[in-house]
Amino acid sequence: MSSNALYTDLSSYYDLMCADIDYPAQSHCVGRLHQLFGNQGRRHLDLACGTGPHVRHFLDAGYRSAGLDINQPMLDIARQRCPQAHFSRQDMASFQVGEPLDLITCFLYSIHYNPGVEQLQACLASVHAALAQGGVFCFNSVDKGLIDNRSFVRHGVEHDGSQFTFGSGWYYSGEGERQALRLSIEKTTAGETQAWEDEHPMVALTFAELRQLLEPLFEVHAFEHDYERITPWAGTSGNALFVCVKR
Ligand SMILES: C[S@@+](CC[C@H](N)C(=O)[O-])C[C@H]1O[C@@H](n2cnc3c(N)ncnc32)[C@H](O)[C@@H]1O
Repeated sequence: MSSNALYTDLSSYYDLMCADIDYPAQSHCVGRLHQLFGNQGRRHLDLACGTGPHVRHFLDAGYRSAGLDINQPMLDIARQRCPQAHFSRQDMASFQVGEPLDLITCFLYSIHYNPGVEQLQACLASVHAALAQGGVFCFNSVDKGLIDNRSFVRHGVEHDGSQFTFGSGWYYSGEGERQALRLSIEKTTAGETQAWEDEHPMVALTFAELRQLLEPLFEVHAFEHDYERITPWAGTSGNALFVCVKR
């Protein structure tokens, strides 16, 4: 199975895989951060929007929300979920927008889908160019130095007469600027099991390296990766939420 099959051939399973994700809490938290740090504007773009669950919540919260993703099957589902939003098929490393934006988001570690530091830098430059004065970029990230290769999370869901088991875990070799997201899907119907495995190449960097890329373009604030309460990042966790205000 080709790399990233989950976002193309298997896109209809994506929302099942994410059934445990609290999209309302994530969207609400980022909306609050935007209120605290932003320019009070309502023009929003979600990078790597997938099937559009965050776009849905931002629309419902009164934003003029749009989405961008590189895989058309994901965008097709997003359009059904959010008929009033504009979606475009673009690479987040080199995207363009029609008007300046007040908030750009990138959820579920998707910023790491830039495959290397060069593409990540180009992505940050595109974000910076797309933001209005005082605009905010908000995303979550993982520090390569704190990845535990042994941690592989699994969960099961029953759907339409089939039992699904989804698994995911980070892998970092310990060297270089590349890490991987490993995903597995098993579908059992009437005793027959089909299995798929994806490995997604992603950029790997420490938070210190990430800050070095961000600081020239943005005023950077880091928070604990907790969508229930906003607390400054204490400096030890390997997951964090970054709020970046355009300079
Ligand atoms: C883990 S999913 C996250 C989807 C959504 N943000 C969510 O939270 O459910 C990652 C998404 O990134 C998209 N993606 C991967 N590489 C990309 C790129 N270079 N530019 C834009 N989107 C990309 C995939 O198609 C997929 O929809």
